[in-house]
Amino acid sequence: MIQLHDLRFEPFISEEKITRSIDSIAEKINAEYKDKNPVFLGVLNGAFMVASEIIKRFEGDCEVTFVKLGSYEGTSTSGRVEALIGLSHSLEGRQVVVIEDIVDTGNTLAAIDRILTSHGVAGYKIATLFFKPKAYQKNYNIDYIGMEIPNDFIVGYGLDYDGLGRNLTQIYKLKQQGMTNLVLFGPPGAGKGTQATVLKEKYQLIHISTGDVFRYNIKNETELGRTAKSYMDKGQLVPDGITIGMLEAEVDKNSGANGFIFDGFPRTTAQADALSQLLQEKNTDVAAMIALEVEDEVLVERLLGRGKTSGRVDDADEEIIRNRIKVYYNETAVLKDYYQEKGKYYGVNGVGSVEEITERISEVIDSLKK
Ligand code: IMP
Ligand code: MG
Repeated sequence: MIQLHDLRFEPFISEEKITRSIDSIAEKINAEYKDKNPVFLGVLNGAFMVASEIIKRFEGDCEVTFVKLGSYEGTSTSGRVEALIGLSHSLEGRQVVVIEDIVDTGNTLAAIDRILTSHGVAGYKIATLFFKPKAYQKNYNIDYIGMEIPNDFIVGYGLDYDGLGRNLTQIYKLKQQGMTNLVLFGPPGAGKGTQATVLKEKYQLIHISTGDVFRYNIKNETELGRTAKSYMDKGQLVPDGITIGMLEAEVDKNSGANGFIFDGFPRTTAQADALSQLLQEKNTDVAAMIALEVEDEVLVERLLGRGKTSGRVDDADEEIIRNRIKVYYNETAVLKDYYQEKGKYYGVNGVGSVEEITERISEVIDSLKK
């Protein structure tokens, strides 16, 4: 992991892989241009590194020029005129090979096409080390592509973020900043535990179940654990400050995480505020409350079924089950309102196969990242 200015980047494409791509571009260019005395046109700044590598591999005669795309104020009728700044050769009647570090939207390419055409080149082809097909909005054919990459922001090998990173010999991509912190809710029997386990794997999130955190702290006799226990022994509720303290310790333990799944917390709006505040101190926040929605009748049926096989007493009695479901709704209604007001409430249909439900939740999570 590296940091450039305010952003963090993670390794993405190795130097060996880049070298192989360049070898393959160079091979094709050699095959086509070896005897044509082409003009290599490197587009600055980003292409300096890849241009040097491609040109080193060229086996015929060639000329080399580096240009920057710019524009100047033309006559009042022509408006701003695009130009290649630094062009020292006449390109008229020449075979040109444009070398780009990356083609993203294709705007740069469009400008180059217009300029080269106006210069009366005999023909030109485009070579680019990286191409982002998802970002590309033009129709120009790109003749030599080193590598297609997803629509992520990358640095290294000539490419920069606000001036930095051009010297890196491999490619790094922007690390997903904002953590994906989820508050997961579901009535008893909704399959919350199952989904938490799957999602934790799928998105590499840390699952923080308040029950587990309490047990851990009490068992290990941490200071917060001992304090919590003193309240519990007296039959009193553990004050929010102590619970939050334990959660904060969990969050701090996993400071590099992609995000957290909070399970069993918050239970009140005061706790929701406290959680939000805790996360904001770490430059993040709750991204969404995801609530699994399952009709009561289905829940009762599921839990009774589970009770028969597991022998859990609280799953054996329909009356108790219905009461637990009722308690859940009484408790979570305020939180639903709380998160709904912030545009962070997502109800997800919890009826279906495990995979189907994961898919529905994933749609929510993926939409949060955009
Ligand atoms: P275009 O959108 O194809 O015109 O590309 C414009 C310019 O944006 C490129 O020449 C690069 O300088 C820059 N660029 C596009 N994508 C990236 C990236 O992922 N990292 C760094 N610079 C980029
Ligand atoms: Mg460029």
